[in-house]
Amino acid sequence: MGKIKKSNKFSPGVDLVIHEGDTLELLASLPDDFARLIVTSPPYNLGKPYETRLHLDEYIDQQRKVITECVRILNSKGSICWQVGNYVNNGEIVPIDIILYPIFASLGLHLRNRIIWHFGHGLHASKRFSGRYEVILWFTKGNEYIFNLDAVRIPQMYPNKKHFKGPKKGQLSGNPLGKNPSDVWEIPNVKSNHIEKTIHPCQFPVELIERLVLALTDEDDWVLDPFLGVGSTAIAALIHGRKAIGAEIMPDYVEIARSRIALAEKGELKIRPMERPVYEPNGNNIYVPPNLVEIGKPLQSRLLELKSDYNVEDKA
Ligand SMILES: C[S@@+](CC[C@H](N)C(=O)[O-])C[C@H]1O[C@@H](n2cnc3c(N)ncnc32)[C@H](O)[C@@H]1O
Repeated sequence: MGKIKKSNKFSPGVDLVIHEGDTLELLASLPDDFARLIVTSPPYNLGKPYETRLHLDEYIDQQRKVITECVRILNSKGSICWQVGNYVNNGEIVPIDIILYPIFASLGLHLRNRIIWHFGHGLHASKRFSGRYEVILWFTKGNEYIFNLDAVRIPQMYPNKKHFKGPKKGQLSGNPLGKNPSDVWEIPNVKSNHIEKTIHPCQFPVELIERLVLALTDEDDWVLDPFLGVGSTAIAALIHGRKAIGAEIMPDYVEIARSRIALAEKGELKIRPMERPVYEPNGNNIYVPPNLVEIGKPLQSRLLELKSDYNVEDKA
């Protein structure tokens, strides 16, 4: 495939839509019931370069408007994943998932998992324990929903373990396709030594979104990120044969998103592979080289081709 059809307005025939501007403008232009997955990390109201710090009630109202539109746009078998951390005020933390949960519940969504995303790097706190996790609230619109568990299984800890008694004695006790990745995900966040790092202060690692895309959508489904940043969600969707749509208010980030996607079209975008275990300073680390991803090319063959592209400096 390689080249994809792009537009700045939604139409069913395109593969990628990036709206450079306010998310509510894009959301208002979208039909009901079409996005299979809506996944985002919204502004946390921390006064980052792209946001004005609001009174908490005002922030919640703003989020309510976006979430309400997202629920209208979400397909009946679809999922919303809201990835959030803490709002911090005078050293006091307010977990954003706790304050936003009532909005999702009031709109009739069903919470399936509160996924803990655990990572190793961040600010060192001096008057509380350093924060090393954020959460993903995964909601579905209905009780029938896409969940492709086999697509995201991870290796069993003891793959050769067998039943030792009973009618299955001697047979493998675990699923040979691997185990359920659970609701605690250990995935490095994008800090300075991460292969995907751009100028964005808080971009998603692509592998975090790949797991959601593979589990919660089928090929050709639409994946929407209302706060697109530098396009990590769009990349995760496009490299797995899904369609991507999103809005981003900062022109610099839009430009980076476009150039990352252009690299992926040419097969020149490097991402951290989902298969690489987390680096342990004193551990026996298995190194899996970066994936050089190309839109339209299956990931497995890419990995096999790249076994010799080994960069020991890239440890994230
Ligand atoms: C937490 S970041 C998301 C980063 C993204 N996940 C990535 O991987 O790059 C939130 C993004 O929302 C953008 N943003 C903030 N308010 C917005 C609005 N009203 N409409 C569109 N984008 C907005 C910010 O510029 C920022 O890039």
